[in-house]
Amino acid sequence: MATGTTKRNIDVCFTPALIEYYDIANKNVVLIDILRATSTICTAFDLGVREIIPVASETEALAYKNKGFIVAGERDGKVLSFADFGNSPFNFMDSDIKGKSIAYCTTNGTKAIFSAKQALHLVVGSYLNFSAVIKFLEADDHDVLMLCSGWKNKFDIEDTLFAGAVCDKLLAGGNFITGGDAAIVSVDLWNLAKNDLLAYIDKSDHRKRLKNLGLDDVIEYCHTFDKTEKLPILKGNSIIDSYEVL
Ligand code: MLT
Repeated sequence: MATGTTKRNIDVCFTPALIEYYDIANKNVVLIDILRATSTICTAFDLGVREIIPVASETEALAYKNKGFIVAGERDGKVLSFADFGNSPFNFMDSDIKGKSIAYCTTNGTKAIFSAKQALHLVVGSYLNFSAVIKFLEADDHDVLMLCSGWKNKFDIEDTLFAGAVCDKLLAGGNFITGGDAAIVSVDLWNLAKNDLLAYIDKSDHRKRLKNLGLDDVIEYCHTFDKTEKLPILKGNSIIDSYEVL
């Protein structure tokens, strides 16, 4: 529990390619992949999934399939040929996943998970569980790193905006100070875009990519605040409901 004496630090890592420059062993790391992985994971736990097993490669995902696991995943937005379904939160809504274990493989989000396994806590953040993320970070007495999944190790708009929204909220709370320019710029971008978020998201590369694939029906849903109180967390090799561990 936060003692509230010393202010904690919050910073932003724009892509997993930069994570080695941040000492995360004693930090709470928030995994961000608004379009679509972390929005999908939060939706899955809201629907009562038991665990999500992130796997780095398609070969591993196929091995899980052959072992009888439900597999969800995509590459460059397209559903994996052998997967039960893709990476849209709506795919998970249309499937019977309550109490199930799902092997999960995506282009960026699952790779980002593997880049941050050394974190003190690795929690899953999206607009869908915004207040649950804030509540945990405020209550837990550790510095914070917002980890943007980006696109193939490059910067993306949608994850940075979410990082800015969280930084803005925590800085306003008075228990945190910025850890660096990345946090300051993320807050500035959030303040620039927050009054018409979807209009700003129209500029995002991945938003355009999903449109071209006919998969952009999720944009508004993935930018909706507080659809769930769930806070998924990495425990060993699985993402589970933090309710079980925190
Ligand atoms: C990812 O994890 O790479 C993204 O969520 C891609 C996507 O599913 O659109």
